[in-house]
Amino acid sequence: MKKAFPLCAIVVLMALAVSCADAHIKFARMSDKAFENAIEQYAPLADSMMANRPGRLPHSIKPDGTLADVPPISWVSGFFPGSLWYIYEYTGNEAFKAYAEHFTHYLEKIQHVTKTHDLGFMMYCSYGNAYRLTGKEEYKDVVVTSAKSLSTRFSPVVGCIKSWEPRVGCNGVDQWDFPVIIDNMMNLELLFEATRLSGDSTFHKMAVSHANNTMQNHIRHEDYSTYHVVNYNPETGAVEHQRTQQGFADNSTWSRGQAWAIYGFTLCYRYTGDVAYLEIANKLADFVINNPRLPEDAIPVWDYNVGEEGFVPVKEYTPEQIAQKPRDASAAAVMASGMLELATYSNEAQAARLVATAEKMLCSLSSKNYTAKVGENKRMLLMHSVTAFPVGREIDVPLSYADYYYLEALLRWNKIFGAK
Ligand code: GLY
Repeated sequence: MKKAFPLCAIVVLMALAVSCADAHIKFARMSDKAFENAIEQYAPLADSMMANRPGRLPHSIKPDGTLADVPPISWVSGFFPGSLWYIYEYTGNEAFKAYAEHFTHYLEKIQHVTKTHDLGFMMYCSYGNAYRLTGKEEYKDVVVTSAKSLSTRFSPVVGCIKSWEPRVGCNGVDQWDFPVIIDNMMNLELLFEATRLSGDSTFHKMAVSHANNTMQNHIRHEDYSTYHVVNYNPETGAVEHQRTQQGFADNSTWSRGQAWAIYGFTLCYRYTGDVAYLEIANKLADFVINNPRLPEDAIPVWDYNVGEEGFVPVKEYTPEQIAQKPRDASAAAVMASGMLELATYSNEAQAARLVATAEKMLCSLSSKNYTAKVGENKRMLLMHSVTAFPVGREIDVPLSYADYYYLEALLRWNKIFGAK
């Protein structure tokens, strides 16, 4: 079963919008402006990539200030073509359809790769959107083959898809046998969709098993915050440890991890109708909405617990690094998109809270504080995201997935509120 945004929920949300009609019109204009800006930034970026860096995809800015681009095998390769598809979808600009098709094709061979769990990000954002918007059978076949490749990483003993390869640590520290990261919830969309497209229920069952184990082992049920990495014993399926790689401390909440969880359980509800997923997604969202550590502009710091008592950092930081607290615009973009979909399945009061938070995030992201001026930021849309603070990787820079989920969230807002 796949849920479309339900009509009754949309009627409730429309009533919300009508009750604040001026704000609604302003938001719709802001969204139009964001896509006009995206055209101005991404058209020259796409032209320049094709002319100067064929076969590669833009992703971020390097420490030396030059554009960071990636080959199709990178986990982030699907986001640029995905954003091009979203710009085409919103604006109907045919040049962007041509760009989107061009960059999507770079990823064709990736459908056969089995050494990464990120196939959902890579192949669904690119080929999934390509099929959704064009209906071309060749795109559908790639989506199903990609799901087959991803499914080879599923262990029936653990009941999950393995995220990373095993690693030998030292005295049990940093050792992974069967690590699963919260991000992996996002890759379930590819599996659910492959069952819908092919009729083969194997993928759907794997996705459900993975989601159920993640619900049990990645979520701290006392406050609905999340662990980043759960390491399982591949022989028994038992949990060996719950840690972090990209967060501040093993017991802290990495902001993008919480965002992946909100979005991931929402999509599980979309495909299964299982209210356990709906309830957990709302509790995960409430952790953010009610969080006193969420800054006034609703764009989270890279981890909710940086420098707090009771949270032992996984590496030593200088006082300056602790005080730095860069925001992660990508976490806000992912959450805004996830919360908007979640609102369409939730009761009226909760929907209002989710929409208000998502709108606040999107207004902040669309402001000059986060949206780059045309011609700047290496022509990426948003500034101020973080990949992995503990290893000093991509801190306070643009990231291709921040742009992707930002555009997706604006599209979702427009679909819900009838502006597009
Ligand atoms: N999936 C990797 C990340 O969120 O940084």
